[in-house]
Amino acid sequence: MGTASLDLTVYRWIQSETSARDRLALLSIQAVLGAALGTYTYLEVGSHLGGSLQPHVCRRQCKAIFSIDPRPLEQPDERWKTAYKYEGNSTQRMFEHLAHIPEADLEKIKTFEACSWELKPDDIPKCVDYAFIDGEHTNKAVLRDFEAVRRFLSDQAVMAFHDSLVTVAALRAIRHGLDRSDSQARFLFFPNSQVVCIVLGGAPGLVASLIDFGWQTNVPISRWAGAKRWLNESIKRSRAYGFIRGRWNHRRRGQSGLC
Ligand SMILES: C[S@@+](CC[C@H](N)C(=O)[O-])C[C@H]1O[C@@H](n2cnc3c(N)ncnc32)[C@H](O)[C@@H]1O
Repeated sequence: MGTASLDLTVYRWIQSETSARDRLALLSIQAVLGAALGTYTYLEVGSHLGGSLQPHVCRRQCKAIFSIDPRPLEQPDERWKTAYKYEGNSTQRMFEHLAHIPEADLEKIKTFEACSWELKPDDIPKCVDYAFIDGEHTNKAVLRDFEAVRRFLSDQAVMAFHDSLVTVAALRAIRHGLDRSDSQARFLFFPNSQVVCIVLGGAPGLVASLIDFGWQTNVPISRWAGAKRWLNESIKRSRAYGFIRGRWNHRRRGQSGLC
């Protein structure tokens, strides 16, 4: 099964900080779990405007949604020295956005204005099939989110991480830990995206179905992958790059005008 069967238009209602490839990655997990389980429970760390909740609020197969977001107005991020701003960040605003989606079932959403590691073990039943980690983008927070959210997963579950190349050190540490403790966990990467996922609980059927959607077992979380990403971003942010790119585009436009 390929990504052509996935409907990206479900993301049209609310702005989401995900690329088209990220969305295909996330939709493919939804499709695979829906097909394998019939129904599924979704948990998200970091919901902001509700953009990444869109595919789940209208989906009948999604029985319950847990959204964990302490709603800070700014947060640290591995990419920047200064904190990243989230103006007007609130659960109420998220619900206002979600309410505009026709047929959205908002009753099934339970929100927590807290960090995942502040939740008690019985705050969420151990029935989450699909978890998406997209909260504070620091290695420390991603590690804590992984450990905290793990408490709520069902026996076989998929945990996806956004901006995976920003927090490669955390993913590497998680992988080392799982290699020692859980030989059944499988790491996968969706090419040309920022999404990595872990299939937990030994579910070869889920892994095979994700691979059918284009997921790869070769996961770019080495030290070199992190350094390369950092270098690319630094170059793209530099003034020289903007200048050279501007000149290049100008030249290309000039050349195409001659044809
Ligand atoms: C990148 S945005 C999420 C975007 C959203 N998933 C989407 O695709 O539309 C990050 C969110 O993480 C939240 N956040 C910050 N620190 C957090 C923490 N410790 N735990 C959970 N969420 C956090 C912020 O409030 C913000 O809403």
